[in-house]
Amino acid sequence: MKGIILAAGAGSRLYPASLPISKILLPVYDKPMIYYPITTLLLAGIKDILIITSPYDIDNFKKVLGDGSSIGVKFSYAIQEIPKGIAESFLIAEDFIQNSPVALILGDNIFHGFGFSSMLKEVGKREKGATVFGYQVQDPERFGVVEFDENKKAVSIEEKPKNPKSNYAVTGLYFYDSNVVEYAKTLTPSARGELEITDLNKIYLEKNALKVEILGRGFAWLDTGTFESLLQAANFVQSMEINTGMKIASIEEVAYRMGYISKDNLIELAKKYKQNGYGKYLTKIAETV
Ligand code: DAU
Repeated sequence: MKGIILAAGAGSRLYPASLPISKILLPVYDKPMIYYPITTLLLAGIKDILIITSPYDIDNFKKVLGDGSSIGVKFSYAIQEIPKGIAESFLIAEDFIQNSPVALILGDNIFHGFGFSSMLKEVGKREKGATVFGYQVQDPERFGVVEFDENKKAVSIEEKPKNPKSNYAVTGLYFYDSNVVEYAKTLTPSARGELEITDLNKIYLEKNALKVEILGRGFAWLDTGTFESLLQAANFVQSMEINTGMKIASIEEVAYRMGYISKDNLIELAKKYKQNGYGKYLTKIAETV
């Protein structure tokens, strides 16, 4: 399975905070936002990741993440000239995907919760159909919304409906089989001029090939779209990290735990941050895990 992180939006809702740099590289507490979606893909067992950015930000992403070899994975980069829709990712990534199943995550989607790693490991093994994740929210009209029948089977999916049929938002993490590029090619722009990810999900739903995993109450799916929600996300991460003594979304730790790098590699990486708690944490992980 391959992975794509879509990080090409202008982030204009966070201007002027995101004027100097892509929103996806802004810090969420102690690490750049993109560490969170990278971790999600790593936990799904995905090591070959394409990062789609705007033409203005690509060099910054390369500077921060490089080719991924330091954490035992492969990062490559592609450009989305203008944000023409989330589903355009699959057209941009056609050569990268080839005939592989692929997961897409939006660069600003942060997930955290008990059991997520095992859920991801399971979903990452699926080779047929599509899997998306439903999460109960107070304001479903802001999202893609999935409706279920009495057996919790998805029966409809709509993008930002005025009258939502349920409170379940479809989150920004999607797993598809190798048909996704062909299906994406059949999409036409919506009224807002975008190739909609919801239209792609509808194709799978109509073919009876869409699975919706529910992320339950104990789960955090954090929004980073406004000044307030970005700060709240940072506060959430800080509070969890202080309470548990464990870091959320440390890409170096996850790469080590997944067996992508050795203990010596981790100790070496920790040296880069030796003056602060992040480096000390990585050293502690290397010594104890
Ligand atoms: O966050 C989950 C929601 O994401 C889903 O429930 C919706 O079904 C899905 O359409 C999407 O909702 P939004 O339309 O609100 O997404 P937004 O336009 O805010 O874009 C999400 C992220 O993707 C954002 O960081 C910008 C980036 N993006 C978006 C588009 C349309 C791109 O990089 N390129 C694009 O072309």
